[in-house]
Amino acid sequence: MAAKEILKMGHPLLRQVAAEIAPPFDDALHQLVEDMRASLEAVGGVGLAAPQIGVSKSLVIFEVPEDRVRMEEGETATGVPSTVLINPKITPLSEEMELGWEGCLSVPGLRGLVPRHTHIRYEGLGLDGKPVSIEARGFHARVVQHECDHLFGILYPERMTDMRYLMFESEVPRFMADLRAKAAAKEADAS
Ligand code: NI
Repeated sequence: MAAKEILKMGHPLLRQVAAEIAPPFDDALHQLVEDMRASLEAVGGVGLAAPQIGVSKSLVIFEVPEDRVRMEEGETATGVPSTVLINPKITPLSEEMELGWEGCLSVPGLRGLVPRHTHIRYEGLGLDGKPVSIEARGFHARVVQHECDHLFGILYPERMTDMRYLMFESEVPRFMADLRAKAAAKEADAS
């Protein structure tokens, strides 16, 4: 298990459509997952797609930390343990989209507000070769949409509808404070 270098935006491999993986899943594929887990652990993050470590195969790993999802979605939200998803397909289950902050290990230092479907179903195979079909909402749905986009050569800035909301991570608190101050001023004006 070895952490690999994570490719950055501009690398041609991040623009490729990843190849589907035919079962049975061999030792080399298990090794790939171990390398991805080590790479993710080394830098810290919630998800990684195989192309990000230079392997153009249709495989993503992700997890939804309990504390993060509770912070964003309230007490009842539950986390998702470390998950391997192979050859994934996503079906939106509602038209509703929601803006949320995203970052990407291939776009280091930046954050953007990205619209995503709030409610999806994702299907694919687990590392054991068994079919997976899961309904996801909110942050869980966002993480899966972000990671699966990597398999089609898409990075989150391309999903953004307003590039004013692309910024350095260090500026996000100032940006949010300014947004809240403006909203409060507007409310005060209206009353
Ligand atoms: Ni990413």
